[in-house]
Amino acid sequence: MSRSAGIIGTGSFLPEKIVTNYDLEKIMDTHNDWIVERTGIQRRRIAEKDVAASDLGVKAATAALEDAEVRAEDIDLIITATLSPDMNFPSTACIIQEKIGAFNAAAFDLEAACTGFIYALTTAKAFILSGQAQKVLVVGVEVLSKLINWEDRKTAVLFADGAGAAVVSGIEEAGIMSTALGADGKGGKFLYMPAGGSRMPATRETVDNKLHSIVMDGSEVFKFAARKMAEVSEIAVRKCGMTLNEIDYMVPHQANIRIIQNAAKRMSIPMERVYLNIQEYGNMSAASVPVALDEAVKKGYVRNGDNLLLVGFGAGLTWGAAVIKWNK
Ligand code: UT7
Repeated sequence: MSRSAGIIGTGSFLPEKIVTNYDLEKIMDTHNDWIVERTGIQRRRIAEKDVAASDLGVKAATAALEDAEVRAEDIDLIITATLSPDMNFPSTACIIQEKIGAFNAAAFDLEAACTGFIYALTTAKAFILSGQAQKVLVVGVEVLSKLINWEDRKTAVLFADGAGAAVVSGIEEAGIMSTALGADGKGGKFLYMPAGGSRMPATRETVDNKLHSIVMDGSEVFKFAARKMAEVSEIAVRKCGMTLNEIDYMVPHQANIRIIQNAAKRMSIPMERVYLNIQEYGNMSAASVPVALDEAVKKGYVRNGDNLLLVGFGAGLTWGAAVIKWNK
């Protein structure tokens, strides 16, 4: 059995189509200035009509496998974190498994909204340390443009599409040193999709009333987000005997630049050591952290030996953090 679990490769994929805030001004009552000031978002990627989560997920997964120099048939588990799966079942993980030819892999989806990638990373580590897997492909993917009510400016300007992936392997060095997860179901009412499940199956009325799209009380989510990001990060660093001062680089969930700035301030982490791509991609929920991680690594912001902090929050409500000794 391996002593530890670490990320040995990352990949990401974004749809080509760019939609700017100015494009949105033409289709709804909103303004570039409002969006930039309140969120930090300038543009986002939107998938074409015929593109589903697995299509983006496969591209990110393939890139991560190449980066890790691992063959698809050597993967023994695929975990896909998503709230916008191809369909309710089979899982998007099974669809990705078939498309990449990972025939020796078990596969399942994990739903923890925007915290999904960190929940999935934690699960991958647990499978590896318990000897049930050696190489796990973790994919965070969303096609949120298809879950948006494009008449609701409060959500339509925020969410977007993309995919990120990581290959997690049993290793002997430090790797994923600790993770911490949390949830509070009382906050479920602040961010959810009312219809399409067993509580409210699809009917003509649910479609007419646009109940198959994201409903959010933004200010309630905003209130808990920065505080929880700081709290869970503190728990995660303490778990591996560190302090927040020892964090070299932070890759946060990209939901709102003000939330990220506030969280970084609470943790005394200067913004120069925080990766930001929200201006380019908006909020891609479960894809947000792995895309940011892949970019931060490929652009050289994260170096071998760095103590890296991944942290996120989202619907559920959920939150989570991972402390990683980067060594790829
Ligand atoms: O991944 C996790 C999921 N979600 C989040 O993390 C979201 C967390 N929340 C947020 O990021 C912020 O709460 C928002 C960006 C969603 C909203 O920012 P806010 O500063 O909390 O604005 P608000 O909701 O209090 O709205 C302020 C005003 C309102 O007008 P009135 O009532 O003051 O006249 C809104 O109607 O801004 C208006 N508004 C807009 N105006 C132009 C709301 N959305 C827009 C818009 N364009 N797109």
